[in-house]
Amino acid sequence: MQRGDYNLITHDYDIVIVGAGGAGLRATLGMATAGLNTACITKVFPTRSHTVAAQGGISAALGNMGEDAWQWHMYDTIKGSDWLGDQDAIEYMCREAIPAVIELEHYGVPFSRTETGQIYQRPFGGMTTHFGEGVAQRTCAAADRTGHAILHTLYQQSLRHGAQFFIEYFALDLIMDDGVCRGVLAWELATGDLHLFRAHKVVLATGGAGRAYFSATSAHTCTGDGNAMIARAGLPLQDMEFVQFHPTGVYGAGVLITEGVRGEGGYLTNAQGERFMERYAPNAKDLASRDVVSRAMTMEINAGHGVGPDQDHLHLNLMHLGAEVIQERLPGIAESARIFAGVDVTREPIPVLPTVHYNMGGIPTNYHAEVMTVKDDGSETSVPGLMAIGEAACVSVHGANRLGSNSLLDLIVFGRSAAYRAAQLIKPNTPHQAIANDCWEALVDRFDQFRHASGSIPTATIRDRMQRTMQRHAAVFRSAESLSAGVTKMREIHASLEQVRINDRGLQWNTDLVETLELENLLTQAQAIIQGALNREESRGAHAREDFPERDDQDWLKHSLAWVDAAGGVTFGYRPVHLYTLTDECQVIPPKKRVY
Ligand code: FUM
Repeated sequence: MQRGDYNLITHDYDIVIVGAGGAGLRATLGMATAGLNTACITKVFPTRSHTVAAQGGISAALGNMGEDAWQWHMYDTIKGSDWLGDQDAIEYMCREAIPAVIELEHYGVPFSRTETGQIYQRPFGGMTTHFGEGVAQRTCAAADRTGHAILHTLYQQSLRHGAQFFIEYFALDLIMDDGVCRGVLAWELATGDLHLFRAHKVVLATGGAGRAYFSATSAHTCTGDGNAMIARAGLPLQDMEFVQFHPTGVYGAGVLITEGVRGEGGYLTNAQGERFMERYAPNAKDLASRDVVSRAMTMEINAGHGVGPDQDHLHLNLMHLGAEVIQERLPGIAESARIFAGVDVTREPIPVLPTVHYNMGGIPTNYHAEVMTVKDDGSETSVPGLMAIGEAACVSVHGANRLGSNSLLDLIVFGRSAAYRAAQLIKPNTPHQAIANDCWEALVDRFDQFRHASGSIPTATIRDRMQRTMQRHAAVFRSAESLSAGVTKMREIHASLEQVRINDRGLQWNTDLVETLELENLLTQAQAIIQGALNREESRGAHAREDFPERDDQDWLKHSLAWVDAAGGVTFGYRPVHLYTLTDECQVIPPKKRVY
C-alpha cells in the first residue's frame, strides 16, 4: 500500500498487542499459549518497559506469612478505591490473584522466599485482615525488584511460545472502520518504514501518562500513547482526574523509593524528627493508603515542618532496619538513594516528596479487558476488535486511589483475562477483511504533517510548560481557582503545538519526531486530567478539592468519561459504578461517610 512518500508494509495476525510491559507480556504469553497468531509491538525493548521499575511487589492473598483471604483483599481494594472501584472487577482481580501469582512462580519468577521455601510476602499500605482489623502480609516480593523479575520471566516465556515481537516500533494510531478496530498503524524506528498490522483484536497495553507532570516516578517513555489513540478514535477516557502521588519519590529526582521500605518497618519524620503519620492515621500510621500519606506529607510541609534549607521535603528513615535486612530485602532502593540522593541508607534518612506515580483513570474496560463506550442513548457497549489492559486501562479496580502492589496484580490478572477472552472469541488464523483506504490514509497524513512541522517552538519548550503547569495546578490538593488557571494555561500550551518546530525530517531514529508525537499524546491526557479535576466537584481518593472537601456520593458516585478533541477540548459523560459482585461469596460493600 502506498500513500505519498510512504510505502506501507502489511502484516496479518489474530492478535496485536501494543506494549510489552507486565500487562502486554502476560497477554502476549496467554494469547500465544492459546494458539493465536500473536504479535507484540513495542517502542522500547520489552525488558526496558516501565514495569521493570516496579519495586515492592504484587499482592495476592496467599497467606504464606499469616492468615489471609481474597475477600479481605477485596474489601481493602474497594475501601482504598474510596468506593469508586467496580466491585465485580475487584472481586475478579482479588480472587484470580492467587492462581495468577502461583502461575508466575511456575513460569519461573524468582520470588524471595520464607524459611520454609514459600513466596515471601510483606505488608503494604491499606492491606488488612478481617476487614480492616489486622495488618496483612500480602505483597509477594522479589526483593525490591519484583517488576524486573516478572518482566524478564514473561518475555522469555512469550518467546518460548512463539509470539512475534516487533521491537522499537512506535504505534501511531488505531485503524478504525465504522466503529470496529481492525488493526494498528506503526512506525519502525530503525528503518523508518510504516507498517499496517491487521488484527482481530488490538490490545492496548501502553501504560500511563506520568510524564504529563514535571516530577514523576514514571520513565520518560510513559506517555500514554494508547490512551491518546483512543481519544483520536473518538472514544472516551475514564476517571482521568484521579492521579496518584506516591509518598516517597526521591526529593529532586522523583525516583521511586518503594512503599516496601515502610512495609519492612521504615517511617517518615518531619523537621522536628517527629513520626507525624501517628497524628494523621493513628492506626495505620505510615502504612495508611497512599492518598492519605501524600496529603499528610503535603500538610506537614505547608505547616512549615518540612526538612532542608527550603523546608520543602521530609525524611524516610530505615537506618534502624540494619544493613543485613536492607541488603536482603531492599538492595535496589539502597542503590537508588546513593545515586540520586547521595545518601547511605544505613546511616542517614532519604529525602522524599510525594511524586506523581500512577493514573487510576484510562481506557474504560470490563473485566474481560474489552474496551467499553456509551452509545448516543446512554447505553453501554463494547468496542469490537479492541481491548485494553494495565495502567492504560480503567477496569476500574483502583477507583479513586490504588493500593500499592495492586498494580502489578492488575497487569497480570487482566493480561491473563484478555487472553482467556480472545481465545474464547477468535478461531486461530481466521482470514481478515480488506481495509478501505480511508481508514488509514488520514493517519499517515497526520504523521507526515508532524514530520514536516516548521513552526518556531521546540518540542521541549512546550513539554516543559505542560509539565510545570500540571505539577502546579493539578497537584495533591486542588481548588477551582488553581484548576481554572491551569485549564486556561493548558489551552494556550495545547494551541502552541501548531507552532512546533521539528528539525529532523528523516524517518530513521527521528527522536525529534518521536518526542513530538509523544508530546501530543501527553497533551491529550493532560487536558482530560486537569479539566476532569475541575469538573469533579467533590473529594474522593487521590482527588482532594479544598473547595469541596467531602466525598459526595449523592452526585459523584459515578465514573467520569472524557472525550478529548484534537484542540484539547473535553466533553464529559458518565458511567455508573458497578456496586455489585460476580458471586455471592462476598458481600456488596456500601459506601461509608468519609470527611477530608
Ligand atoms: O512502592 C512501590 O513499590 C510501588 C508499588 C506500586 O505502585 O504498586
